[in-house]
Amino acid sequence: MSEPTSPAELHALLVRELQAHAYRYYVLDDPTVSDAAYDALYRQLVELEQQHPELVTSDSPTRRVGDRPREGFVKLTRPVKMLSLDNTYSTAELSEFHKRVVGGLPASEHPEFCVEPKLDGASVEIVYEGGMLVQASTRGDGQVGEEITENVRTIRGLPLRIAHKDRLTLRGEVVIYRADLDRINVQREAAGEEPFANPRNAAAGSLRLLDPRLVAARPLRVLLYQIVQGPSLASRHTEALELIAALGLPTHRKHVLCSSIEEIVHAIGEIDLARARYPFETDGAVIKVDRFSHQEILGETAKFPRWAVAFKFAAEQAETRVQSVVVQVGRTGALTPVADLDPVQLAGTTVSRASLHNFDILSGLDVRIGDLVAIQKAGEIIPQVVAVRTEARTGAETPVPIPSACPVCNTPVVRVEGQAVVRCPSRVCPGQLKAAIHHYARRFAMDIDHLGPAVIELLVDRKMVRDVADLYDLTLLQLSSLPRLGAKSADNLLREIEASRERPLDRLICGVGIPQIGQVAARQLAEAAVTLETLLGWTAAQARERVGQIHGFGPNMVEEVVRFLQDPDQRSLLQRLAARSVSRPQPLESSAAEGPLAGKSFCVTGVLTRKREDVHGMIRGAGGLVHDKIKKGTTYLVAGDKVGKSKTDDAKKYGVQVISEQQLYAMLAGHEQAVEEVLAPGEGLT
Ligand code: IVH
Repeated sequence: MSEPTSPAELHALLVRELQAHAYRYYVLDDPTVSDAAYDALYRQLVELEQQHPELVTSDSPTRRVGDRPREGFVKLTRPVKMLSLDNTYSTAELSEFHKRVVGGLPASEHPEFCVEPKLDGASVEIVYEGGMLVQASTRGDGQVGEEITENVRTIRGLPLRIAHKDRLTLRGEVVIYRADLDRINVQREAAGEEPFANPRNAAAGSLRLLDPRLVAARPLRVLLYQIVQGPSLASRHTEALELIAALGLPTHRKHVLCSSIEEIVHAIGEIDLARARYPFETDGAVIKVDRFSHQEILGETAKFPRWAVAFKFAAEQAETRVQSVVVQVGRTGALTPVADLDPVQLAGTTVSRASLHNFDILSGLDVRIGDLVAIQKAGEIIPQVVAVRTEARTGAETPVPIPSACPVCNTPVVRVEGQAVVRCPSRVCPGQLKAAIHHYARRFAMDIDHLGPAVIELLVDRKMVRDVADLYDLTLLQLSSLPRLGAKSADNLLREIEASRERPLDRLICGVGIPQIGQVAARQLAEAAVTLETLLGWTAAQARERVGQIHGFGPNMVEEVVRFLQDPDQRSLLQRLAARSVSRPQPLESSAAEGPLAGKSFCVTGVLTRKREDVHGMIRGAGGLVHDKIKKGTTYLVAGDKVGKSKTDDAKKYGVQVISEQQLYAMLAGHEQAVEEVLAPGEGLT
């Protein structure tokens, strides 16, 4: 490559380079430069564009994210309707589909079929014109969708410019990788927000956010599986998929060509076996007649093409009875209905509770006490009620009313128009306080080990604790007076509470819970303020300015922090904590001394679903150490895709346990035992 001689040439070169790296990272999963090197190039581009604003083009990577929220979405009618797929659930139904296809074609024709994963996300249509991404829309009712171009532009794996100059309309699915969902859910929970039930909800919800800056913060991907004006560019579907890939566009790259029903059934079985290892959620397979000429002969019904069908994999479900529905009060006052169930085995664990999320979902399902219900694990973690067996009702089942008052403090509930959440508005509700103490004591926050639900219950009910700052005034005498708490446990608890004063500021921020501020953001905020006193000393204007400068903090996050710091109740709590010397100055860029990964060291290698730097940050934030190379004493090797042999050899040599990226996220969420039980040193190498 020759040296650029003018700013315009340098600009073009930087845009090309950055696009090429994004392509290797997101589409090929095979980056050739470090994140730091990418960031350096990006910064160079930002600076160049600041000096020469006339050079900015709409396909510049700096222009992915628009800077103002929209009022709403515009409806868009598309020329070619987006059809949906008929579902099949058994080999017998598949075989009927196969027969219908063969019977629908002239006897001389031998159709081939493309079998590919059914991606569980939100469908989109994307249009390129003159090589530029010009439009994106949601599915809507198939004919009329909503225009979401700005939001789709933020998806970094999707090129803003391609080499094909004619108008090109593509369809595909916007998805969130499972590991990314786990990570954002950990952050959402830490910020007191409802976790997403599954990647599909998360993807669909993200696409409909009005502020593209918020969308940009969601780890969205898009996988394309269809060229709408296909026949003019290819003669068969598998060719179209190859063309999509050849244009540098992201696709699933997991299709198999079959020519008999046996091969189709086999291919579906293979996808079912492999799908646990796919980074994205797959709820079935799609079987498509490959040749476009065959597709045309077969045509479509009003809703479905006759040349394609979905095969749905059965989600693991179990049936059990609802014993009761209890209403839990969260620390922000949100009331959550939870079903107590007859214990039942589901996907390897005994389940006796399932969240009903909110009262809209509860009434939508019409769950009644005594009902036989189907439960399923969402995102493979939290069990949820998915259906009611109404045919099994005896008439003795009792409906669950939406509470008009808080079940704990009896304050009349409030419900914001258009929102699903029913809230207890009281500022002195013991239910909220118990949840707040529980949250404060959690591992990722102040990590007070012996402060369990039973003790919290007693402390609040006996009015020994009115806010978390009161914990630090408890005496051994008071604690040993609690029923069922022996002298030894009381002593342990007191030590634990004392020790929690030494947590760095970011853990305290997690503990008090600022809306929208998860673990990573809490650490950034803590690094900006360093001490609790500084945080409290900021005026609203100072806070807005300082917090506004934090990388990755959007306007909503900034406003939440400012509002929290100005709220008289929150301020007085933070002041009371400061007066009790709670929290230590935030160490910059060093490892936290405590956390779920404390005392463990990690070496991260291979291609991951997110930036390696971010993974390092998460490990450090949870108290772990990061080693660049495997050495004696390294606890775990976190192996992404395509791990080099030298690393795995080193792992064997030093007896280092190998874990997957997903297992790391499970450990971050505090489920480390699972990993330790499954793997012996050197195991896990594939
Ligand atoms: S082909 C007429 N391929 O599933 C062809 N769709 O239940 C229809 N989907 O609307 C689209 N993965 O949103 C196709 N590999 C795949 C797919 C897929 C997921 C979605 C798509 C469709 C829905 C139908």
